[in-house]
Amino acid sequence: MSEVEHKIVAKIINAGKEYVNGDIKVVALKPSSVELKSGELLLIIGPSGSGKTTLLSLFGCVIYPSFGEVWIDDVMVNSLPEKELAALRLKKIGFIFQRFNLIAPLTTLENVMMPLILQGETSGDSKKKAAKALTKVGLQDRFQNLSNDLSGGQQQRVAIARALVTNPEMMLCDEPTASLDLESAGIVMKELKDLASQGKAVAVVTHDSRLRPFADRIVYVIDGGISDVPVEVIT
Ligand SMILES: Nc1ncnc2c1ncn2[C@@H]1O[C@H](COP(=O)(O)OP(=O)(O)O)[C@@H](O)[C@H]1O
Ligand SMILES: [Mg+2]
Repeated sequence: MSEVEHKIVAKIINAGKEYVNGDIKVVALKPSSVELKSGELLLIIGPSGSGKTTLLSLFGCVIYPSFGEVWIDDVMVNSLPEKELAALRLKKIGFIFQRFNLIAPLTTLENVMMPLILQGETSGDSKKKAAKALTKVGLQDRFQNLSNDLSGGQQQRVAIARALVTNPEMMLCDEPTASLDLESAGIVMKELKDLASQGKAVAVVTHDSRLRPFADRIVYVIDGGISDVPVEVIT
């Protein structure tokens, strides 16, 4: 296999988030600097409430930072209007969540076609690409199943295919294995690791230290701050 490139596809520089509710200010994430690189699986480990989802949401352009800079490729996205952010998310970022968020009345094939239909692709092209993405995650014989007919691990692989189908540079995964047994978690992490070794920038947020063997690089989040020093997180 050829060497994959490790180029920075996104970075935050001293970026963070605070929420103000009346007189109370909550610092969800202190000023933090982190890079996401293509060809790499970055594991972000921290206990519940430490700021992991906030960190991932900054990379995902789902929230605006309260301070600092958020860069996607060579664009600083801080001041982009909501509409442009939405377009950028659809084009460059695939999201995977703990709860697979599949649409229940649709088949796996239709679920995976959805982001392409939203981007205005024809149903024929969408179908071909969705079939390819599902085959890539080993679900070539599950096109017509409804999500309820699938195991948790299979549903998460459908969610990976759906995130993958638009060929985004970045895959952002928030506790993707938290609803899975250990064996299914291993299969899902292996899929994500494969995507990284094929050139995607993959970020996986977890409170589970057992996922460490899948990481190319690890950052720890504690009390709203980034640390390179390992913390043992109780699962
Ligand atoms: N929209 C919000 N409004 C107020 N506080 C928030 C909001 N989102 C997150 N927080 C707070 O910020 C902290 C970090 O949250 P989060 O990033 O979700 O942590 P994690 O994903 O590690 O569990 C928590 O104390 C949480 O309560
Ligand atoms: Mg979270």
